[in-house]
Amino acid sequence: MDFTLTEEHIMIRDAARDFAKTELLPGVIERDEKQEFPHEQVKKMGELGFLGMMVDPKYGGGGMDAISYVLAMEEISKIDASSSVVMSVNNSLVCWGLETYGTEEQKQKYLTKLASGEVIGAFCLSEPEAGSDATSQKTSAIDNGDHYIVNGTKNWITNGGTASVYLVITQTHPEKGHKGINALILEKGMEGFEIGPKENKLGIRGSDTHSLLFSDVKVPKENRIGEDGFGFKFAMKTLAGGRIGIAAQALGIASGAYELALQYSKERKAFGKEISKHQAIAFKLADMATEIEAARHLCMKAAWDKDQHNNYDLSGAMAKLYAAEMAMRVTIEAVQIHGGYGFVKEYHVERLMRDAKITQIYEGTSEIQKIVISRSVLRG
Ligand code: CAA
Repeated sequence: MDFTLTEEHIMIRDAARDFAKTELLPGVIERDEKQEFPHEQVKKMGELGFLGMMVDPKYGGGGMDAISYVLAMEEISKIDASSSVVMSVNNSLVCWGLETYGTEEQKQKYLTKLASGEVIGAFCLSEPEAGSDATSQKTSAIDNGDHYIVNGTKNWITNGGTASVYLVITQTHPEKGHKGINALILEKGMEGFEIGPKENKLGIRGSDTHSLLFSDVKVPKENRIGEDGFGFKFAMKTLAGGRIGIAAQALGIASGAYELALQYSKERKAFGKEISKHQAIAFKLADMATEIEAARHLCMKAAWDKDQHNNYDLSGAMAKLYAAEMAMRVTIEAVQIHGGYGFVKEYHVERLMRDAKITQIYEGTSEIQKIVISRSVLRG
């Protein structure tokens, strides 16, 4: 495998790095504290093509590969994981799902606007009693001729308040289990579709996470994605790609914290020398750098599999599992290296540590990734 980045890859990575430093860094601490959604910044991300990176240019996307997407996700996540989760959900879960499985009409109507960032999307699977256990959907979509009647509640929906287009996983034929599930496209403003209160979160506080309530929402049949009963496979396929994006987010959070800790350790003096010259700190830095590099290789392998049209269920789950667990370890060490300064907001690392936690939870907890990986390993 050739690990050399192309000129185009380097250009995209550098553009994302510049954007993160100039547009996302200013105000990132305040947005986190006030739980303020980065409206202006997300608008600019759309203008620069970061919200529909892999979408075919004929639908308004950038036509880039998954490696470019991982590179950009890492750079943006180093500075602001609240913005990068908006990017990840829009790219991997919403645009990819619609482009791969949507009808031409759905693509023209929704994908073009989502890929250009004119509107943003949300992927709605989790419910009060169905997060990891994705087959146990309770949100119902009753077949009523040319439309469905949707009732139920979704929880923990990223972009829940700011999205305009929602891909909602629903149950139409409960007796058929996962084969009775449908994915429907809902629009903000449909009668009976209510957005619940915003969650007050530990991390990624600049992103908006809401519950959604559906009460007899009438959804036209032409808004169903795929055949009747395809919804569970749609969700699984979409999440498999989403995991590559979140793995890259975890990688970015960790490398952001590591870079800050490295710099701090070269400036801060204790016992007569820079703390980086004490082996206790130097060894921490060595472990952090090694783990980050290992996660980067796993992310790149998963993205490469996707670009080669190989199956990436396993490599994506491995990348997400390792990168998320690594991000937690690395950010905790970054706070430790900063000592008391690490515990206060101005130094960024405490925020990165809080942000790292969600990568072990969303788009499948670490335990879910182990289910996916172990099943694959045991199948041989
Ligand atoms: N691709 C295609 N099909 C797949 C698949 C995949 N990756 N994974 C499973 N399937 C298919 C199986 O082949 C099977 O189909 P058949 O019966 O036709 O063979 C069907 O789906 C059911 O599969 P399982 O029996 O494996 O299903 P399960 O109930 O045992 O669950 C699971 C498997 C991996 C645990 C799954 O439920 C899962 O991934 N859960 C986690 C869900 C999740 O990630 N939730 C997070 C919410 S989204 C989010 O966080 C977004 C956000 O806001 C950031």
